[in-house]
Amino acid sequence: MNSGDNELTTITTSSASPKSLVIAIDGPAGAGKSTVARRVADALGYLYIDTGAMYRAATWLVLAQNVNTQDLESIVKLVAAASIELKQSLDGGPQTVLVNGKDVSGEIRTQQISRLVSPISAIPGVRQHLVVAQQQLAAAGAVVMDGRDIGTVVLPKADLKIFLTASAEIRAGRRLKDLEAAGERPDEAVLLHEIKERDRLDSTRAVAPLRQAQDAIPLNTDNLTIDDVVSRILNLCKRQA
Ligand code: DC
Repeated sequence: MNSGDNELTTITTSSASPKSLVIAIDGPAGAGKSTVARRVADALGYLYIDTGAMYRAATWLVLAQNVNTQDLESIVKLVAAASIELKQSLDGGPQTVLVNGKDVSGEIRTQQISRLVSPISAIPGVRQHLVVAQQQLAAAGAVVMDGRDIGTVVLPKADLKIFLTASAEIRAGRRLKDLEAAGERPDEAVLLHEIKERDRLDSTRAVAPLRQAQDAIPLNTDNLTIDDVVSRILNLCKRQA
């Protein structure tokens, strides 16, 4: 596998704690991975890498360039030649996602992207490319990476693997709040249907399907607050240190 011209960089200002752990957090859409992973990374002074944002950025590019979504060869070429950057803000604010220098942080979170991201992320050439980039970003350690295949494919030797789950209904309710906060007015029943459909596509695809790694610790977040989940993971980190 070759990362070609694709440039993926992250910038962080925090310093790592003494033992630099590699932490993988996987799970289905809306389980709370991003919020939890970012909070754990901040608490430890680690780099946070949102791999879903990378697949969303690739999907944004396909739409922006009007590439036919059936034309897999052109999609892989487009992603291979693109610069996708994740930048952590200096004040602990949200991560910025840049595609070929353009800030697409807001645009990659729309329902339109959420609908198309599963088929785009199922394309083997797209995955190969982004997985190599993700492995390079994690090579120095002191990293929290979240996604679907981090514990199984991207970082199989991670020091700590967490598999976050929650019922589809709870996840749809969380997504509703996020989208409403972003000014969208989605229908909750439609969101629930879409979450179930994304679960189905992400877990049944041929390459790197969503599944719990054998050595991952499962955490159901239905009845847990974000603080609860973060502190459980930080406690698990202490045992690794
Ligand atoms: O975490 P998210 O909802 O932002 O992820 C968007 C999509 O990207 C998700 O439907 C599946 C895909 N994805 C993936 O295939 N592998 C990853 N490591 C992360 C995300």
